[in-house]
Amino acid sequence: GEGGHVHDYAFSFEGPFGTYDRAQLQRGLQVYNEVCSACHGLNMVAFRSLAAETGPAIEADTLRAFAAEHEVEDGEGGYRSAELTDFFPGSSLENAPDLSLMAKARAGFHGPYGLGINQLIHGMGGPEYIASFLTGFTGEETEMAGALFYENEAFGGNVSMPPVLVEDLVEYSDGTPATEEQMAQDVAAFLMWAAEPHLPQRKMWGFIGVLFLAMLASLLYLTNKRLWAPIK
Ligand code: HEM
Repeated sequence: GEGGHVHDYAFSFEGPFGTYDRAQLQRGLQVYNEVCSACHGLNMVAFRSLAAETGPAIEADTLRAFAAEHEVEDGEGGYRSAELTDFFPGSSLENAPDLSLMAKARAGFHGPYGLGINQLIHGMGGPEYIASFLTGFTGEETEMAGALFYENEAFGGNVSMPPVLVEDLVEYSDGTPATEEQMAQDVAAFLMWAAEPHLPQRKMWGFIGVLFLAMLASLLYLTNKRLWAPIK
C-alpha cells in the first residue's frame, strides 16, 4: 500500500555515522522469535550471523542453544535441530512473506508527486515503514470473501495480517518496558540489520573513500598549480 502514513523515527543506524544499537537488536530478535516467527520466516539469515559484533553480538553458547530450538530439513526427508551454519526457517504461514529483506523491500516515504524529495529528506524508510505498520492498525475489520482484513494506516488500506502487538506481549530480559511502540521499533531495527548487516562497515569504507578523494583532490590542485606556474 503506497500513500499510507509512515512515522519518521530516529533510529540509531541513520545518518553517515549511524550504527546499530546492540541491545535494541537483541530485543528485536526476541520480538521476532516470540511473535513474528509464528507466521513469518527469515530464511536468508544464518544463525551464526547473529554473533556479529556490529549486530546482535549473541554469545556462542547462547547462540548454539538458540539455533537448536529450531528444526531444519535434514536432506533425507526428515528433520534435525538447527546448527550455527543453518538458516532460520521460512514462513510457516503460506501468505506471510519472508522478512529477511522486508526492510529493504518497502519504502517509507514517497513523493511528493513522484519527485522523491521525501526520500532525500527522510531516507528510504523501510524500518520506519515496518514500525509504523505494526502500530498502524485502526481496529477496523472487514470480511471479504470469507476472510478477515484489518485496516492499517501505514499500509494505506486493508491487510490480511492481524494486529499482533499489545503492551507487555514480551518480557524483555534487559528490563526495557515492552510498550507497543518499543516492540515495533525494536523488531524494525532488527529486521533492518537482517536485511543490511554490513551497514556500519559500508559507512566506514564510504567515509574513508571520501577522505581519500579529498586528499587526492588537494594533491591534484597543488600539482596543477606547479605544472602551470612557468606559463602564467
Ligand atoms: C505481512 C511484519 C507478525 C501474518 C507483513 C508485512 C510485514 C510484517 C512488514 C508486510 C506488509 C506489507 O506488505 O507492506 C510482521 C512483524 C511481525 C508480524 C514484524 C511480528 C511483530 C505476524 C503474525 C502473523 C502475520 C504473528 C500471523 C498471525 C502476516 C500476513 C501478511 C503479513 C498473512 C501478508 C499480509 C497481506 O499482504 O495482506 N508482516 N508481521 N504477521 N503478515 Fe506479518
